[in-house]
Amino acid sequence: MGCYWNEKRVVVPGGAGFIGSHVVDLLVEAGAQVSVIDDLSSGCWSRIEGHGGRIVRHEADLVTADLAECFEGADAVLNLAGLAPGLTLESSRHEVLYQGNLRIADAVLNGVLAAGVGRYLEVSSSCVYPDDAAVPTGEVSFDGKGPEEVNRGYGNAKREVERRAIEAAAGGSRFALAIARPFNAFGARDMATGAGAHVIPSLLERILDASPEIVVWGSGRQTRSFIHAADLAMGMLLAAEYCADSNPVNIGSNEEISMKDLVDVLQELAGTDKPVRFDRTKPEGAARKACDASRLERMTGFRQRISLRQGLEEMVRARLVPS
Ligand SMILES: NC(=O)c1ccc[n+]([C@@H]2O[C@H](COP(=O)([O-])OP(=O)(O)OC[C@H]3O[C@@H](n4cnc5c(N)ncnc54)[C@H](O)[C@@H]3O)[C@@H](O)[C@H]2O)c1
Repeated sequence: MGCYWNEKRVVVPGGAGFIGSHVVDLLVEAGAQVSVIDDLSSGCWSRIEGHGGRIVRHEADLVTADLAECFEGADAVLNLAGLAPGLTLESSRHEVLYQGNLRIADAVLNGVLAAGVGRYLEVSSSCVYPDDAAVPTGEVSFDGKGPEEVNRGYGNAKREVERRAIEAAAGGSRFALAIARPFNAFGARDMATGAGAHVIPSLLERILDASPEIVVWGSGRQTRSFIHAADLAMGMLLAAEYCADSNPVNIGSNEEISMKDLVDVLQELAGTDKPVRFDRTKPEGAARKACDASRLERMTGFRQRISLRQGLEEMVRARLVPS
């Protein structure tokens, strides 16, 4: 990381979250003065407690807080707050995720405008892309198609959030806008379990708990690509520095793995050999997902440093030997 962030005053809404906490780590390491605003709805201070007095923490709901005051004097706001649960079967989730993500993003964007902040990172998602987008997926146009079907509420919210931020940046206030479209993130800090957990922690839970078999949604042939959250955070900081031209930039890995192979690797690392059942009555999402991050690489020199296997080893270790 270069010296761009040194001494910068940076506010990170959602900085106690899974990805946000890695962004905070990198900013502190780079010498930034960091404030975090989080309501701890899915975040926890323990993820960033190692920074002690080097960061300022505000526990507040972004939707109701006075963000103009919180953002006053900031050089940049990097918005890592949002509602990003894994797949569930609740039909209401589309509306909840659509409205919830819009409310949070609108509040943060309005705060940025009111405080006159010069640089803003909006975190979107790869779920904005249609199911039949070419794989690996670059920053392709949507051609009138909807976002990823199983995540349509979330994907539509992210499309709308992007649109509103681009419009605001093009208006009179003219702040530098970076838009990140991350693909699936993973890492040991993503250890939520139960309904709404992301795919890797949720598979790991079933591998390590007492259940006699592992049930995987769909055929098991669907592929995904995963980027370690520490690498993703690095990509986001580079994007905020070098790609603040209002054009979305993908951040992710082009290494595809099928769900079946993912379960096999996790079982190997966990030392288990449970039978696996593929439940084709459950949704499996897009047949393939992988990221073409060549725009980010060209503009910033970004390269991933943590392989899928290394990151999975870290996650299994964290579950078997909790700190
Ligand atoms: N995890 C992924 O694989 C992934 C992939 C693509 C995009 N994203 C996006 O990245 C961002 C961060 O995701 P994450 O996985 O770290 O999620 P997360 O749930 O771990 O982090 C979100 C943080 O925002 C906080 N928050 C939520 N609502 C808030 C509110 N009203 N006021 C204050 N704080 C609030 C939560 O407490 C949490 O700390 C989200 O915008 C998400 O859509 C995540």
